[in-house]
Amino acid sequence: MTYRVFISDPLSEDGIYPLQEADDMEVVQETDLTNEQLHERLTDYDALLVRSQTKVTRELIENAHRLKVIGRAGVGVDNIDLEAATEYGIMVVNAPDGNTNSAAEHTMAMLASLARNIPQADAALKQNRWDRKAYVGVEMKGKTLGIVGLGRVGAEVAARAQGQRMNVIAYDPFLTAEQADNLGIRSGSVADVLQAADFITAHTPLLNETKHIINKEAFEQMKDGVRIVNCARGGIIDEDALYEAIINQKVAGAGLDVFEEEPVYDHKLLELPEVIATPHLGASTVEAQRNVAIDVSNDVVTILRGGVTQNA
Ligand code: NAD
Ligand code: MLT
Repeated sequence: MTYRVFISDPLSEDGIYPLQEADDMEVVQETDLTNEQLHERLTDYDALLVRSQTKVTRELIENAHRLKVIGRAGVGVDNIDLEAATEYGIMVVNAPDGNTNSAAEHTMAMLASLARNIPQADAALKQNRWDRKAYVGVEMKGKTLGIVGLGRVGAEVAARAQGQRMNVIAYDPFLTAEQADNLGIRSGSVADVLQAADFITAHTPLLNETKHIINKEAFEQMKDGVRIVNCARGGIIDEDALYEAIINQKVAGAGLDVFEEEPVYDHKLLELPEVIATPHLGASTVEAQRNVAIDVSNDVVTILRGGVTQNA
């Protein structure tokens, strides 16, 4: 039996070798298709592999009569209609571990860039402005990093921040005092984190409970001059509230990799010099893209052959 696998987003060439090497898999990769084109293509495929660009809607799922598994090369499955997939008996599998390190490194790069105004100073210098006074920064050493969401990425960020000799306080509903002790960090409520932190970084999924968890009231509880990073999901921070908090000089800087609506163009936050931003690049490294493609390809092969995987 030959299984037909369709890849609709750019995935690492190196990473899809488990599919390409398998004698019983026929792999087709076509990216940048319109919804209509994808609907047509998917009617006779057993598996669909995506990153985050393809929106796997109910309509798409309803038309894909042969589909058995959807593989997401990454953590978040928010671009897949899980309810529809479940209704139609289609398994959804993600790759939760492969990009953890890259996301944590991107977060640390954001924190350091915010502390030392590196993107702003770079931009100024390239406009022939040698301005040393405008870009006086702050040290990270001895400062408190507040982490909201201490899962895979959050825990890696905590370890790296300790390497920078920061104190770490975290809120996660599943974090026990004993676990925090073992990690050498403090655990507290969201309010404790907001009040104690000089830098704050969010690492939760976007859920009903986490949507706008950093909102106007949250900003009011923070220290003046706090710096804040979101490399997790747009919508965890209320963007209007963040804008106001920056204008009111409550927040000294924000590092954003993710936005409520993506892709983002002409956003008011991007007009503020205190904001540094990247276009959802947290997992965009050679290593992470290879890892997630390998993980999800292996799982898709296993599932199509009738096996069981951990990440389904
Ligand atoms: P994870 O599931 O390992 O960790 C998420 C943590 O959030 C868990 O420990 C969970 O208990 C906690 N959490 C849930 N509800 C919470 C709440 N109300 N308050 C506080 N904490 C809560 O996920 P992860 O792999 O660490 O990823 C974290 C986030 O980063 C996800 O949103 C993921 O999609 C995103 N991510 C983004 C990029 C990127 O490219 N920017 C890359 C990787 C991951
Ligand atoms: C993820 O959920 O894994 C990240 O957002 C990275 C991505 O796929 O771009």
